[in-house]
Amino acid sequence: MTKPFRIIQAGCGGMANTWVEYALAREDAELVALVDLQEASARAMAERHGLTCPWFSDVEEAIRQTGANLVFDVTIPAAHKNITTASLRAGCDVLGEKPMAESMEDAEDMAREAGRAGRMYAVMQNRRYLKEIRAYRELVAGGVIGQTGFVTANFFLGPHFGGFREAMESPLLLDMSIHTFDQARLIIGSDPVSVYCHEFNPPGSWYAGNAAAACIFEFANGTVFTYNGSWCAEGAPTSWEASWRAVGSKGTAIWDGAAPYAEIVKPRPDGSFTSGLERFEAPFTWEGREGHKGCLDEMFAALLEGRPAETVCTDNLHSMAMVFGARESARTGQKVLLRR
Ligand SMILES: NC(=O)c1ccc[n+]([C@@H]2O[C@H](COP(=O)([O-])OP(=O)(O)OC[C@H]3O[C@@H](n4cnc5c(N)ncnc54)[C@H](O)[C@@H]3O)[C@@H](O)[C@H]2O)c1
Repeated sequence: MTKPFRIIQAGCGGMANTWVEYALAREDAELVALVDLQEASARAMAERHGLTCPWFSDVEEAIRQTGANLVFDVTIPAAHKNITTASLRAGCDVLGEKPMAESMEDAEDMAREAGRAGRMYAVMQNRRYLKEIRAYRELVAGGVIGQTGFVTANFFLGPHFGGFREAMESPLLLDMSIHTFDQARLIIGSDPVSVYCHEFNPPGSWYAGNAAAACIFEFANGTVFTYNGSWCAEGAPTSWEASWRAVGSKGTAIWDGAAPYAEIVKPRPDGSFTSGLERFEAPFTWEGREGHKGCLDEMFAALLEGRPAETVCTDNLHSMAMVFGARESARTGQKVLLRR
């Protein structure tokens, strides 16, 4: 019997394994084709997971021949626009890896295409699906620390990836910062309206492009969010979730990737220099799965319920705008207003 989700796995590289495993574990889904420019990659994927579905180099041909209705776009960023647009035009929904595209214009075109086709295109933002970030969000957007005014994220790591990241122009901003920027939108509960960014390549960097950036964002709700990031920082690493401090009218919330907490002010005895503080451990209330599985669960729930997913492309454009606004600011030396 035909299952409701007939899935094409486009892109059979490293990340695609997680997507294939997810599809295989769903009872309402079947993998009907693998698409990759390299037959060897598709073949290796099929062998690893015991798949018998056919390989195609062209996604349109794959859709035509298999009657697929859902495409997982886990190709390289440069291919996302073509794969996703062709799939939407052929009547498929698309769930794709970050980043949507290599430029803001391409990402906007893709979102328009999804609207025209009347299909859903949602984007993987797995770092939203962690019990810790959901608890931290309650402290900040949920109002435990009062009205938020200032949020900072420090991201300092020294990964030696090798490969394309060490050769590309803005490895930190283009490949990684979308995760932290998207997390900032979730934590703050608002969208950004402007950015000023200085991007640079610190001494000792093993990247050809700029591997560090300092950004100041203003959000629609008045919050100022600053991001300090480096991918060539040896020693005393932060977590991959970054190290966060949010200051509100009633206290401060801290999250370094482990359990978040807040210090909330107690009524100040007359004349005292500083306020008394009470520590508040953020309760974990997130019941969903974490990481890719959590994000994919939400995407499939949205498809089944006929509603936009939390990370639908039109929402993700706000996170993309933070990346490309930051790059534009770094290039021009000017503060950039974000157009969304
Ligand atoms: N969410 C995360 O945490 C996370 C982590 C790593 C990678 N990613 C993203 O996942 C995506 C894939 O990354 P990866 O590490 O698997 O890359 P990869 O290079 O290992 O694999 C990409 C695959 O896509 C294929 N491909 C390229 N162009 C194609 C085209 N036009 N048509 C069909 N196939 C094509 C390549 O042959 C390759 O097999 C990227 O967008 C990356 O940013 C996300």
